[in-house]
Amino acid sequence: MKTVHTITEARQLLDDARASGQRVGLVPTMGFLHDGHASLMRAAASACDVVISTIFVNPLQFAEGEDLEDYPRDLARDQAICAEAGVTLLLVPSVEEMYPTPIVTEVAVPPLANVLDGISRPTHFGGVATVVSKLFNIAGPCHAYFGEKDWQQLQIVTRMALDLSAPVTVVGCPIVREPDGLAMSSRNVYLTGEYRTAATVLSRALRRGVDLVASGQTDAAGVVGAMEELFHAEPLADLDYAAAVDASTLQPVDQISENVRLLVAAQLGPARLIDNTDAHRPNSLP
Ligand code: PAJ
Repeated sequence: MKTVHTITEARQLLDDARASGQRVGLVPTMGFLHDGHASLMRAAASACDVVISTIFVNPLQFAEGEDLEDYPRDLARDQAICAEAGVTLLLVPSVEEMYPTPIVTEVAVPPLANVLDGISRPTHFGGVATVVSKLFNIAGPCHAYFGEKDWQQLQIVTRMALDLSAPVTVVGCPIVREPDGLAMSSRNVYLTGEYRTAATVLSRALRRGVDLVASGQTDAAGVVGAMEELFHAEPLADLDYAAAVDASTLQPVDQISENVRLLVAAQLGPARLIDNTDAHRPNSLP
């Protein structure tokens, strides 16, 4: 695996690979990698000849007072995980390399970005859409792998790629969890002692939701209310939202039909956690 720090080097290597007929897979990350990230890399490696991963803690997607400065970093460990998971090219650009001049261009997907997480993080998805569109321009024609863990982000980048005719096929990959159900996240390092134990409330609430749906409950308010009850019973969790939405448009639904996604977000002490599931197919949920 080769590590590069400039856009020019990455672009050249990928252009050369495509010129010789190789397929390119892209896995954007903010580093401090875990098995969720590695699962995207393995998926890319199984379908593509060249896998570029990027590690960039993108200032644009952090608001004032969020954890930009504290975001965990460990490049040496990340390089080992990438190499092991089949990454062939790792791009680790500096902030100056990505934003040499103050950026005045914005990429925005308002109908998908102004709901759910976008309500408490109003500038977040604009920053994500902007950096991902830069990464798509840097990588060029490719398949790009994103986790379902960040369901709203996945819908936003999928729609952005479509609307902007990006030469990129967005591929969504399943959520990887800890054995007790907590979705893996770089931010889980913030969860100490009792908060780590309480953090299973997110996956437990989703499990309760899918179980109700499986038992024939179709009223969305009833399902969401039952999920909220679990949070109210967990004093260490401060619920942001529990929701049942159309999986693609992210608009709330009244009835749990096909293509409905259940999503939750909560603050547990220092960590803001999110999780979600297909309302009918709980996949990795314990
Ligand atoms: P980051 O949080 O590092 O996540 C990088 C990718 O890994 C995202 O596509 C995310 O959905 C996926 N991922 C994280 N945890 C996962 C899990 N438990 N299971 C499966 N996939 C998981 O998301 C970002 O970075 C940034 O917003 C980024 C897209 C890189 C733009 O800056």
